[in-house]
Parts: sequence; C-alpha cells; structure tokens
Amino acid sequence: TAGAAGAAGLALGAAGATGVYAAVAGPDSGSSPALSTVGSTEVVFHGKHQAGITTPLQSRGHLIAFDLAPGAGRKEAAALLRRWSATAAELMAGRAPAADTGVALDAGPSSLTVTFGFGPTFFDRTGLTARRPVELDPLPPFSSDALDPKRSEGDLWVQIGADDALVAFHALRALQKDAGSAARVRWQMNGFNRSPGATAGPMTARNLMGQVDGTNNPKPSEPDFDRRIFVPAGGAQPWMAGGSYAVVRRIRMLLDDWEQLPLKKQEQVIGRRKADGAPLTGGTETTDLDLDKFGPDGKLVIPDNAHARISAPEQNGGAAMLRRPFSFHDGIAADGTPDAGLLFICWQADPLRGFVPVQRKLDRGDALSPFIRHESSGLFAVPGGPDRGEYVGQRLLE
Ligand code: HEM
Repeated sequence: TAGAAGAAGLALGAAGATGVYAAVAGPDSGSSPALSTVGSTEVVFHGKHQAGITTPLQSRGHLIAFDLAPGAGRKEAAALLRRWSATAAELMAGRAPAADTGVALDAGPSSLTVTFGFGPTFFDRTGLTARRPVELDPLPPFSSDALDPKRSEGDLWVQIGADDALVAFHALRALQKDAGSAARVRWQMNGFNRSPGATAGPMTARNLMGQVDGTNNPKPSEPDFDRRIFVPAGGAQPWMAGGSYAVVRRIRMLLDDWEQLPLKKQEQVIGRRKADGAPLTGGTETTDLDLDKFGPDGKLVIPDNAHARISAPEQNGGAAMLRRPFSFHDGIAADGTPDAGLLFICWQADPLRGFVPVQRKLDRGDALSPFIRHESSGLFAVPGGPDRGEYVGQRLLE
C-alpha cells in the first residue's frame, strides 16, 4: 500500500536506532557492522494518531479480535486498555515487558506497531451506548458476501505489524496474555508483505495475484489526506478526534482461476499493467488513469468494469480510503485450492464516504469479482493516538 511515491511519504513514524539491535551481533563480531537497519527501526507509540495507519507496510502482521468476557464491563475494559497500552509502548521501543517469554530477545523493535480499535458491540457491553459513533453502524450486506460470523466483528480489535516474524509473534502473545480474564480471543488472522530489502529500492507491494497494489492510495502529502482518513476534532464523539475507522475484510483469492487467465485479460481486470502497475492508457506507475481514452477498436482502453475504474474516487463522489493490507496464506483448503488472499484493511474518517460506496459498486460485479470472495468482515473505531501518560481509548473509558 505504501506506493512508489507513498513509500517515503508514509514514513510518518519516527525511526531511530535504539542501540538494542547493534549490541547483539554474534560472539566474535563485537566490531562488525549491523547487518541492516531493519531491526533498529522504531515507530513511536504516542502521538496524534495511533501507529500502524500511515506507517509503511510491515512484512508480518497479526490481526486479533477479542470479546469481553461475561461480566467484564467498562472498568475491566479500561484496565485492559491501560495494560495493553503499557505493553505496546514497551515493545514498540524494543524493550521486553515483565515476565517475558524471551521470544524477541536479541531483536530490535523492527518497526513494530500495535493498533487498538473498538467494535460496535463494545459500547453496549460497557454501558457506553451513548458514545458509540454513528460511523460504527453495521456495514450493509453485499450480495457477494460469504461471511463467516465467527471470524467477523468483535468487541476489541488489535492490529500488529513488524518487520520480523518473531517480534510480531512475541507481541501477539504478550497482548493475548495481558487480556487475562477480561477478554477472550474471538478470531485471529496472520498476514505478510514483502520483506524490506527484497527489492533493490522502495516499491509498491504486490499482492498474491501478482499485481502492484496500493499505487493510487491517498498520500499524506495531499491536502485532503487528513480530512479523508482521520476524524477531525469537534465532532459528535470528541473521544474519536484524530482517530480513524478500519474496515477489515478477509478476501479469499480464487488463485487457480485467476492464474489461468492470460496476462492481457488479467491486465484488463484491473486496468493496469501487471509488470509495473502503469495504467493501460500509458505512462508509468504514477501516471493518472485516462478513463476517457478509446482504443483503435473503438472500445475504452480501461474497460468499463475494470477494478481501478470502478473504485476510483472520481467515480464515487470522491469516496477515498487508505488501503493497508497484508496477504495471507493459511494452507490448502479441503477442496484443494489455496486458502490465500488479502487481509484487506482500509482506513477512513467515515466508512460511508470510504469503503461502503466503493464496495457497493464493486459488488454489482467489477471484473475482479469472479476471482475473489469476501469471507469475513469487521468494522472498528480506532481512537486517536495517546498522549504521554495516557492509554489508548482513555478519553472514552475514563
Ligand atoms: C485499486 C487490487 C479489493 C478499492 C486497486 C489496484 C489493484 C487492486 C491491483 C490498482 C493499483 C492501486 O491503485 O492500488 C485489489 C484486490 C482486491 C481488491 C486484489 C481483493 C482481493 C478492493 C476492495 C476495495 C478496493 C474491497 C474497496 C471497497 C480500491 C481502490 C483503488 C483500488 C479505492 C484505487 C483506485 C484509484 O483511485 O485508482 N485494487 N483490490 N479494492 N482498489 Fe482494489
């Protein structure tokens, strides 16, 4: 999702060496240079927005949803968010929490981010119904949905990202242990993106269909970025100022079918070239799509039902979202097909001006629809970042 231009632009999290990583080379390598800066990169926990929204895509991700345990209410939820925030701040700084498992010893913070959100059901369970934002109203059903309720929604949602698999797993376990008797895991999903350093320079990621994916994301440098992605101060729910709404969809890719499609057809499905992500109307990856261009055959060069045409903000009254996904591969399904696809996560100030209108149009059948299946869904209110001394969600829960 961090596009070619966005790769640099999205690096909002302050990065700095912590010293932890440099100090842990092998026994006889005291003066050897560090292998890379991947481990030492640190993303800050405190700030206006939570980390993990505009942070560059990490190579590993875990998504976990929890439900509050029976009998747990606002008090227990507040204590849990306080514990979680303290643990996340420590881990993101590359420090081990008390009674640590040791799984991430030797590694630096590795761009770890931990992001917390509240699902629609959280508010009734904690007696906070009056403070539930209208933006959390359930997403409408879509005709192509094949949703598994057991892997959808949840009272609480945690997104973990890191550039090291052990660091990510370590954070997952620490946060799960913190939940204690207050909350139970409802579902968990594991994802990945390309490892830093795998390409010669920063590039937009590819998904498991092989497409360059994330090019036309809104960029933090654009004047309307904040308005589109983050909730402004002065809204109906002041505790959400600086926050954002995450739509999470586990989208299975029907890869056996997709891979049989000839390259030219694959490119028409999206409206972009597979090799470099450039629009079929020409130029480079960052050239604008020319949606009005006809070919010598009298047909639109970017077909009527191309995914990039149908999802473009100009076609949806300006609706825009920041897509920041992980790929997933959970082995081979019972029918022999790969259980693989996209953990689609998109961020917006209001789902009704982001995900919903776009998915409504895609649901009528864009060219990509026959090759994907939405298998689970979640909508979460992700509050603004905590100030120092504050925990995430304190403005709602205190
Ligand atoms: C663009 C793939 C699902 C919204 C794109 C592009 C690709 C792509 C390759 C073009 C490059 C880019 O600008 O990023 C996929 C795949 C999906 C999927 C493989 C499912 C597995 C969705 C869904 C939505 C969505 C569910 C929202 C409801 C968008 C938007 C753009 C886009 C807004 C940018 C359009 C533009 O401004 O040019 N997608 N997409 N996509 N997609 Fe998807």
